[in-house]
Amino acid sequence: MKKKLCMLFACTGVALAPWLEGFAAQAPDIDIRIWPEIGDPADIDYAFVWKPPTGVFAGLPNLRAIFSLGAGIETLLTPGLLPDSVPLVRMVDPGLAVGMNEFVVMRVLHYHRRMHEHAAFQAEAVWMPLVPKLPEDRVVGIMGLGQLGGLCARTLVSFGFPLRGWSRTQRQIDGVQTFHGQHGLAPFLQDTEILVCLLPLTQDTSGLVNGHLLSQLPRGACLINTARGAHVVDTDLLSAIESGQIGAATLDVFMQEPLPPSHPYWAHPKVTVVPHCSAITQPKTAIRTLLSNLRCHDAGGMLENQVDLARGY
Ligand code: NAP
Ligand code: GLV
Repeated sequence: MKKKLCMLFACTGVALAPWLEGFAAQAPDIDIRIWPEIGDPADIDYAFVWKPPTGVFAGLPNLRAIFSLGAGIETLLTPGLLPDSVPLVRMVDPGLAVGMNEFVVMRVLHYHRRMHEHAAFQAEAVWMPLVPKLPEDRVVGIMGLGQLGGLCARTLVSFGFPLRGWSRTQRQIDGVQTFHGQHGLAPFLQDTEILVCLLPLTQDTSGLVNGHLLSQLPRGACLINTARGAHVVDTDLLSAIESGQIGAATLDVFMQEPLPPSHPYWAHPKVTVVPHCSAITQPKTAIRTLLSNLRCHDAGGMLENQVDLARGY
């Protein structure tokens, strides 16, 4: 008789119940082992991880693939963490994408409709109607045109914004002016009044949103970073806001999380701090996607959304 499929659940910092209920409902045939109660390590076929405890992958002789609960997998690429030759799959979840789309659209419209300027007036009890630009006169730029950035770009096109997108390789999205590679960055930034960062964190993208990049945006441009804190050089962003080069920023992700209470971002009137929840992996939809991938792999098929370890995403 074929052994029951066995999956190790080793996620920290997430509520356990919705995941376990979801797996029980959608995969009663899979034996879920919750770290550290893993039983016989030789039973484990697959692992589902998020901020996994140290040593979690040691001594799992039959591990066939690792699924990440998150879309961003940079912390799993710490040297020596992953076992050799076991594929890593990043999270692609329709529920996560919908959440990111909502958040990015909300903040783009917030800046487009100059709500940050209204907030400053309200603080001084100043009655000052501001005329918004027409969407067709407001350039919005998205760095990263993957699962998340691509969806946000397609939605924002429907508002009538001139949409720009920047990626590593050439991409094509209806209604979006696309740029790629290092040579495409400067023309992408020029005229981009609302910049969204949805890049993976890699050696190439770490610290990319620095003073030099910010200086290439039109004066008063707004930044929305929902990717990773390390994309942004904090001191450069704060200086750019002080000088007026950047008008406002929405930051969902930070170099250190939770953001320390003493960090200047918390009290800055031009910075909106969100505690890394612009988009959350949704158990209902994510488990569905994960299971279809896992079952296909178990039946001898190819894994979807496998991380290219050399590329870093
Ligand atoms: P994805 O599908 O892998 O897309 C990544 C995009 O970034 C691709 O368009 C890729 O270019 C581009 N890119 C990668 N390296 C680049 C470089 N050096 N220069 C220019 N473009 C580059 O990733 P995703 O699923 O959209 O997720 C993006 C990131 O969002 C994740 O890695 C994660 O860090 C973050 N995230 C944050 C939250 C949150 O709650 N804040 C939630 C989920 C995800 P190509 O198209 O050419 O490959
Ligand atoms: C969250 O930050 C994710 O990468 O899914």
